[in-house]
Amino acid sequence: MPQEHRSTTPDPFDWIDERHERRRRAGLLRSLRPRPADSSLLDLAGNDYLGLTRHPEVVAAARDAVRRWGAGATGSRLVTGTTELHTELEAELADFCGFEAALVFSSGYAANLAAVTALTDRGTQVVSDAANHASLIDGCRLSRATTVVVPHAAPDAVRKTLDDFDGRALVVTDAVFSVDGDAAPLGELATVCRERGAALLVDEAHSLGVLGDGGRGALHAAGLAGSPGAVATVTLSKALGAQGGAVLGPARVIGHLVNTARTFVFDTGLAPAATGAALAALRLLRGEAARAARVRAVARELHARLTAAGLEAAPPDAAVVSVRAPSPQAAVRWAADCRDAGVAVGCFRPPSVPDGVSRLRLTARADLTDDQLDTAVAVVTRTAPHASRPGDASAPPPPEGPRRGR
Ligand SMILES: Cc1ncc(COP(=O)(O)O)c(C=O)c1O
Repeated sequence: MPQEHRSTTPDPFDWIDERHERRRRAGLLRSLRPRPADSSLLDLAGNDYLGLTRHPEVVAAARDAVRRWGAGATGSRLVTGTTELHTELEAELADFCGFEAALVFSSGYAANLAAVTALTDRGTQVVSDAANHASLIDGCRLSRATTVVVPHAAPDAVRKTLDDFDGRALVVTDAVFSVDGDAAPLGELATVCRERGAALLVDEAHSLGVLGDGGRGALHAAGLAGSPGAVATVTLSKALGAQGGAVLGPARVIGHLVNTARTFVFDTGLAPAATGAALAALRLLRGEAARAARVRAVARELHARLTAAGLEAAPPDAAVVSVRAPSPQAAVRWAADCRDAGVAVGCFRPPSVPDGVSRLRLTARADLTDDQLDTAVAVVTRTAPHASRPGDASAPPPPEGPRRGR
């Protein structure tokens, strides 16, 4: 129990209550909801794209790793936190995705911070897509480089920005954008980078296991994996069903990260259970190429049926189907109604959505059955707020506010 302190001096955290109240009034309050282990909800909210997080081989690998190596990594990767599971995972990830080398981090977030900060300095220009994930944005902020945010998926804007700058440059983009699920124009970006001598950093968080031959990722699909100027980051927490992240690229880039990336050097290594689980999931992915094709097919089917029912959603390039809601409040109510009807969906509101438009975010999974797909479509359409349907005078809804959180 916290002690009670009475004082006449001003409370230094009063401002938090004011911010809280402002957020509450705007319908932007967030809260935590513990997920029961035996939940009967149909999960279209998580990122377990391939249905591997409870796969018996993945779970057994995590259990074996704990028994063999203990619950924690015990230290940073450079001290005691590297096990043979880490080095095996690095070698197999690099080989699978078509890169020379890989380095495992404690999260995809840490991998992105590492890649952006280690590949830049004060004199570097970073060109960053306006819809990039928060971890890339934070990497840009930490880097002390000059960051130019360019409009979303606009290679011409990237070209123009690079033309106006005469030094070392890094172009940074998500491969698949987490909110709308659209894919970056990687071929065009790579051409611009090659012509201007810039490096290209691509976050494959939502494309590993989903895009490319057998799920080898978007750079692999574009014939760019392993090219000298390209670096990828991945998370082990989505399609691979575990936890952690990695940077993949030329061996000299990885060696540089080992020596300089602060989120590698000063962070405890990824726990053995997560490392073993990710390795087992990667091996399953390698052995069952159909999983990646199946998740893409499920996403296309979900989109086709929701839009046929009158909802507004952009065609998915990967596993994410994003459905527009008329307001943050309506999105929250819609997600709650879905949950009450047995389907868990994601709900994105400002400031997580840079354009201010709230959405339901549905994730396809390779292991969804046809019956589950029927249920998902029926529930999401039945509970839709009236203004989400085309034909209604208020659709499509206007953006709710200015861009924030960039
Ligand atoms: C595009 C993108 N990059 C990076 C991350 C961070 O990965 P992790 O959850 O492993 O830290 C996420 C996670 O939500 C993401 O969506």
